[in-house]
Amino acid sequence: MPAAIISGKDIARTIRDELNAQCAALAKEGLIPGLATVLVGDDPASRLYVGMKQRAAAEAGIHSRAETLPATTPESELLALIDELNADPAIHGILVQLPLPRHIDDSKVLLAIDPDKDVDGFHPVNVGRLATGDPEVLAPCTPRGVIEMLLRSGADPSGKHVVVVGRSNIVGKPMALLLLRKAAGGNATVTVAHSRTSDLGAVTRTADILVVAVGWPDTITRDMVKPGATVIDVGTNRVDDPEHPRGYRVVGDADFEGVREVAGAITPVPGGVGPMTIAMLLANTVEAAIRLRKAGR
Ligand code: GUN
Repeated sequence: MPAAIISGKDIARTIRDELNAQCAALAKEGLIPGLATVLVGDDPASRLYVGMKQRAAAEAGIHSRAETLPATTPESELLALIDELNADPAIHGILVQLPLPRHIDDSKVLLAIDPDKDVDGFHPVNVGRLATGDPEVLAPCTPRGVIEMLLRSGADPSGKHVVVVGRSNIVGKPMALLLLRKAAGGNATVTVAHSRTSDLGAVTRTADILVVAVGWPDTITRDMVKPGATVIDVGTNRVDDPEHPRGYRVVGDADFEGVREVAGAITPVPGGVGPMTIAMLLANTVEAAIRLRKAGR
């Protein structure tokens, strides 16, 4: 029997409906969560992602401010904008879309964001809070979305062996830390594999839950998956397809058709993890707004 499909699109819709209701209740108390997005340059994919985040925020009743700066913007100007957003009481979440142009130092920019407004969870203070198990941390949106998907599809990682393939700061590392937490959605036994892992298939075949985030199509084929395992595909890759009206298709990191023959459940691409990332950005913004209000800021 082919694997069940875990629809991130449907789960994200449910979460966004919950957030709409929460934002409506907060508005009655006089609190409108605010999200600022900062896009530097004109990378089409980044522009598309930021546009989706802005539209999702508006739909939830989150006040949004979109800052778009030219690719030639000096680092000092970007840092000055972040200072202004840090001080703006109407803004509770700040997201600087990555990657930044090469003349700008990413780590300096991420360090400048107020950790309490860091809705991406990339500031080193939040990375540390995540590593030490702080339950109130703003955790990175994509791995947080994966945890929500697992819980809401009945695949609680507690006690399971989860193999994470990929060690990026945006997905792989925070994914492993969330799965390790002594908290709902955590308590897993975690292995992190990556591009230098020898015999990747031998490792992935031991996974009850396999999370793949490497950014390369067909990294995971059916022979690399334990029968019945849950496969979460974080990849978003464009592959040429002359038969498609756009000339390309978007695929994940797993060979979907092959893997679904052996897996117990699998996320599609598109319509899997992507929509969850956006839902979690909104959730982080609402949480940040509530915490900042509590702190009197
Ligand atoms: N670029 C790719 N993924 C992300 C993300 O989750 N947040 C930001 N800010 N930039 C990204």
